[in-house]
Amino acid sequence: MIIGVPKEVKDHESRVGIVPSGVKALVDAGHKVIVETKAGELSSMPDDDYKHAGAEIAGSAADVWRRADMVVKVKEPIAREFPFLRDDLVLFTYLHLAPLPDLTNELLKKTVTGIAYETIKDGHGTLPLLTPMSEVAGRMAVQVGATYLEKERGGRGLLLGGVPGVPPAQVCIIGGGTVGTNAAKIALGMGAIVTLIDLNLNRLRELDDIFGGRVYTLASNSYSIGQSVKHADLVIGGVLIPGAAAPKLVTKEMVSKMKTGAVIVDVAIDQGGCIETAHPTTHSDPSYLVDGVVHYCVTNMPAAVPHTSTLALTNATFPYVMKLAKMGVTAAMKNDIGIREGVNTYKGNVTYPAVAQAQGKTAKNVSDLIQ
Ligand SMILES: NC(=O)c1ccc[n+]([C@@H]2O[C@H](COP(=O)([O-])OP(=O)(O)OC[C@H]3O[C@@H](n4cnc5c(N)ncnc54)[C@H](O)[C@@H]3O)[C@@H](O)[C@H]2O)c1
Repeated sequence: MIIGVPKEVKDHESRVGIVPSGVKALVDAGHKVIVETKAGELSSMPDDDYKHAGAEIAGSAADVWRRADMVVKVKEPIAREFPFLRDDLVLFTYLHLAPLPDLTNELLKKTVTGIAYETIKDGHGTLPLLTPMSEVAGRMAVQVGATYLEKERGGRGLLLGGVPGVPPAQVCIIGGGTVGTNAAKIALGMGAIVTLIDLNLNRLRELDDIFGGRVYTLASNSYSIGQSVKHADLVIGGVLIPGAAAPKLVTKEMVSKMKTGAVIVDVAIDQGGCIETAHPTTHSDPSYLVDGVVHYCVTNMPAAVPHTSTLALTNATFPYVMKLAKMGVTAAMKNDIGIREGVNTYKGNVTYPAVAQAQGKTAKNVSDLIQ
């Protein structure tokens, strides 16, 4: 199979779809990989590394898209990439099609097989290609929070871990899933006092075991959240209700009772945020103050650490790339129910019900289409 890796063109996107080690594995398995020049540059993966791994470096995006059987990207194609879509192309990337009717229509018109990272499921029914970015964002939330607690950045002038004779900071993490657990690991590692709040009691039991009783766990309700937030130096929002907007668990009133110079990092902001006073911010203007509390609400936190994020993402995506290349796309879809779940467009049809529903279209069952 010929696999193409274009440079990402979406604003602020600095990751890349395949790393040099992936190129080597594909080339060793007898495939050809064409990488657009500078595709990995922002992730600190220069053309030379790709060349040494066996890739052909192409001078233009058009060249990559025209020659590839399967294009592996990170973000969905944007308008200037639409002309590259063509019949029988396989596109493997984050698609997030529900709010994107123009892209969906292009994929249907050109009969592209669109396989979306975000809807692939593993044997446990979880979404393995979303997890790595939550791991990155959860760990980063503490790093960012610690920085904003410094006086120069608007914070209370507090060292997260304290020093002998001076107590450490109190960190309140709301949501004990992937983001929350990773945030707790780093906060504990830096010496903070950590409280984890979740609605799911079984999850709290697991977290109590995982951390050997070193974190305080609290059942989620507005009283426990209000108390914990009031005493916290750093609040991290990491709740998720799949498919729904995040619930506003920390109200405006609770924020007004927080300490001056405390910091909020609302990681769940990409789903609307779980803090009432949070609104989306960007890496170029990441923070603002409400009632003297610093708010950091960047919707794409992993973009700040593209080297780590690219490696974390491709560790998870690459086994699927290899499977698609090795078996061919139709056989891989027949063989792997998780890959089938990832197929959002196939032979001119929408094959993912939630996308069809969002756009007033009718979904066809991919299993019927590949018979
Ligand atoms: N800003 C970014 O750059 C970025 C990056 C990655 C992920 N995220 C977002 O972070 C959020 C969390 O992702 P995740 O992967 O950790 O999700 P997850 O499903 O692993 O965890 C969510 C947790 O929230 C808990 N929860 C649900 N309702 C709750 C409530 N009322 N009170 C307390 N806990 C509650 C669930 O029980 C679960 O444990 C998502 O919105 C995700 O999109 C943002």
